[in-house]
Amino acid sequence: MNEFAKLEVDGKTYELPIIEGTENEKAIDISKLRGATEGVIAIDPGFKNTGSTKSAITFLDGEKGILRYRGYPIEQLADSASFLEVAYLIIYGELPTANEYKEFRASITNHTLVHEDMKQFFEAYPAKAHPMGVLASMVCSLSTFYPESLDQDRADDAKDLTIHRLIAKLPTLAAWSYKNAMRHPFMYPKNDLDYCENFLHMMFAMPTSEYQMDQTVVSALNKLLILHADHEQNCSTSTVRIVGSSHANLYASVSAGISALWGPLHGGANQAVIEMLEKIAADGGDVDKWVAKAKDKSDSFRLMGFGHRVYKNFDPRATIIKVACDNVLEKMGVDDPLLDIAKKLEKVALEDEYFKARNLYPNVDFYSGIIYKAIGIPTEMFTVMFSIGRLPGWIGQWKEMMENNEPIGRPRQIYTGANERDYVSIEKR
Ligand code: ACO
Repeated sequence: MNEFAKLEVDGKTYELPIIEGTENEKAIDISKLRGATEGVIAIDPGFKNTGSTKSAITFLDGEKGILRYRGYPIEQLADSASFLEVAYLIIYGELPTANEYKEFRASITNHTLVHEDMKQFFEAYPAKAHPMGVLASMVCSLSTFYPESLDQDRADDAKDLTIHRLIAKLPTLAAWSYKNAMRHPFMYPKNDLDYCENFLHMMFAMPTSEYQMDQTVVSALNKLLILHADHEQNCSTSTVRIVGSSHANLYASVSAGISALWGPLHGGANQAVIEMLEKIAADGGDVDKWVAKAKDKSDSFRLMGFGHRVYKNFDPRATIIKVACDNVLEKMGVDDPLLDIAKKLEKVALEDEYFKARNLYPNVDFYSGIIYKAIGIPTEMFTVMFSIGRLPGWIGQWKEMMENNEPIGRPRQIYTGANERDYVSIEKR
């Protein structure tokens, strides 16, 4: 393999270094391109061919359907690990020892309460507020309660405290945004429960009745959170890194990530999947008609939960979650007409030439919404669930970016607007 790529611009040849990752992925390093060529830049809308960083956290191979966190296959982690263990792995680089895990869990458990004053913020939101809007605001608001988190030069253990607070409080804020929308009383966290159990308790228990914990549900939730924990430089993670690159505090950076995740082309797809299935059902359940709409270029409709920017073969997370989905549905005895539509849609699309030619397969969000629905999570909370899962990834990537002292993110552009012209006063226009 050459160490340099050659680029010819206006008759001049430039040598650009080729760098290689630990899994032999190659990149042409253009970081000095503009200086060397006196002004020529690379352009790549949507960053389809552009690496923004070198990262040691997550490896994925979209062609082979491989996903690993810090080298560990997603299948093994989803099968055997706890979400907090995976969070520790992603953030700190190694699986925790028994002692490290005990301390980490204890620290997370001890920080699950949010300041009582924050309850007033919740109450000020209308009942119809989308919980993602509430969550993004609440996470940013945490920075106002912990002003010391704004100091980028504080000691490592103070930074860890911010990290632990965020992991601990996100489920509380998420569950409270739901309770507030229902105008139900907030349920306080219970320290004898584990991370997933505690979230289910805060979501579904009432002062008048306990939530009946079902281990199939707890295990499916644990798996879902692990599957979403990181996915290298996706839209929301790149947002967290770019906001963090200005040295904005961690709460503000993660809040921006939550906003980016909200969109239906990203994390919002899990909500969009159920809404699409409901629409198809209300329209009579004619799956072929909707598949034809998705293929019609003059129609903006897309099959939600299908396709992925990097997985062009299969989404390994979808394979794992499909099994968990079947388990939960069987255990809960769910007989949902939407599920039949989902199964038909999957079959028709997988056999259709349009979808085959474009490598469009169900992604993780096609199934996650179905599980969340079966557990009793309302549709508008689906992307909130994704945020809880993705948090360790956002934190780990932010931490890596800060520790590597990466420069502020600031892309360039090619200007295509008007050339210089003189201002004309309003009377003369
Ligand atoms: N339904 C119908 N056609 C589709 C779909 C779909 N869901 N997805 C892609 N296509 C078609 C496009 O029209 C395009 O066709 P063309 O080549 O004839 O123009 C081709 O497949 C390639 O699509 P792009 O939009 O160029 O692919 P890109 O990598 O930019 O987008 C994305 C990926 C955004 C995920 C897209 O597949 C999509 O919109 N899917 C639906 C939304 C979704 O499920 N998002 C969740 C992604 S997973 C996550 O973020 C956790």
